[in-house]
Amino acid sequence: MTVTPIPADLLAWCDANDARAREELFALLRIPSVSARTEHAGDCATAAQFLADALARIGFTTSIEPTPGHPIVLGEWRGAPAGAPTLLIYGHYDVQPAEPLALWTSPPFAPTLRDGRIYARGAVDDKGQLYLHIKALEAHLATRGTLPVNVIVLAEGEEEVGSENLDAFLDRERTRLACDAVVISDSTMFAPGIPSILSSLRGMAYLEITVRGASGDLHSGMYGGAVVNPAMALARMLSTMHDAQGRIAIPGFHDDVRPFPDHVRAQMRTLPFRDEQLMHEVGVTALGGEPGYTTLERLWTRPTCEVNGLLSGYTGEGAKTVLPAVGMAKVSFRLVPDQDPQRIAALVEQHLVQVAPAGVSVAVAYLHGGRPWRADLQGPIIDAGRAALQAAFGREPVVTGEGGSIPVVGDFERILGAPVLLMGFGLPGENAHAPDEWMSEENFRLGMRAAAVLYEEYGKRASR
Ligand code: BES
Ligand code: ZN
Repeated sequence: MTVTPIPADLLAWCDANDARAREELFALLRIPSVSARTEHAGDCATAAQFLADALARIGFTTSIEPTPGHPIVLGEWRGAPAGAPTLLIYGHYDVQPAEPLALWTSPPFAPTLRDGRIYARGAVDDKGQLYLHIKALEAHLATRGTLPVNVIVLAEGEEEVGSENLDAFLDRERTRLACDAVVISDSTMFAPGIPSILSSLRGMAYLEITVRGASGDLHSGMYGGAVVNPAMALARMLSTMHDAQGRIAIPGFHDDVRPFPDHVRAQMRTLPFRDEQLMHEVGVTALGGEPGYTTLERLWTRPTCEVNGLLSGYTGEGAKTVLPAVGMAKVSFRLVPDQDPQRIAALVEQHLVQVAPAGVSVAVAYLHGGRPWRADLQGPIIDAGRAALQAAFGREPVVTGEGGSIPVVGDFERILGAPVLLMGFGLPGENAHAPDEWMSEENFRLGMRAAAVLYEEYGKRASR
């Protein structure tokens, strides 16, 4: 592979503007745009406006599109030379709730630079990774007055709650959003200094399971032993979802799983990964999962069933003798090609109804879902991504998989017919969704340079 240099004018602009770019990112990180909480709806609107203003300042036409939830920011620049392709850059300005607040070293919405890391909720997921694109666009427009490709920036505010309003928007605006490729920076690199292109994401079916027994809480002495306890029933029902070895045991669950091709699994085995390193990263003394698969295969190529939350009975200080009337579990299923979230939800419901003991009722609510995705990693946008990452990081990217989900990726391919490049700048241990989330300051800078080269290389490869 021939090495692509970072063009000197773009590099000089980036060098001169790194500090300002970081300051602007800090301003965005100060806005607590937590999509899950209605009391932060105003903050989500403020973050949307911030991005629209940032895009307008560098020369984009912008609009803020209302949805039944949080607004979508659209920025458009269509002044590229005739025959140039159109690139859509997607990211999200919403963030996960910051709780538990007591575990943050510095407050979640007071961004702080410590030890080369930018600490804040949303630093890496996804404000830092989205904003570096806006600065890379500015690098081109400020130095050359033009961009090598037409660009659409689409920033949504509901990614962390399932992007429920996005496909309707893509459908309705498919003409305006027509593009030749999509780039998303909302994922991690395999390791520090090893740039990565993602080849797969898991999908998601998120369910809330409620088991009800007596019409109200009961004295556990007067009724316990004779009236079925919904907390116990729920625990037993949940435990039937895996077999004793750790394989998901819901009938029909694996029917649509299409195995990953051997060459993909072989490629994964070439990545330098050690179980001990992961154990150290998360602070456990052993790993566990489905038999017959390596840890990376379990994370990237196999479906899961995980309890995310459990609630029942008395959970306050001290003891209270009570037989609860209700038990509730939030359960997520990470899915792999070609599992369908709605079909999985139906199978789970059938299974739970089947195993529920007499004396309780079970209700399953579908909270959100998204399809899994697998790329074929070919074509000009992928080649441009490889060249851009090599230019910025000084080494060829590796191909990785991912256990997390970005529900819209499959929709871009299906609705807009455009291939997607997932080029992320997060790092293992970045604490996404957890206290002390951080983004590497170096990756923010190098990501900006990679993005600037990407537009250039994509323009060269895809112009007609
Ligand atoms: N950025 C993440 C997804 C991600 C994480 C991709 C790590 C690659 C590496 C995204 O913001 C996220 O957390 N998505 C949710 C989606 C869910 C709410 C449907 C997830 O995966 O839990
Ligand atoms: Zn994200």
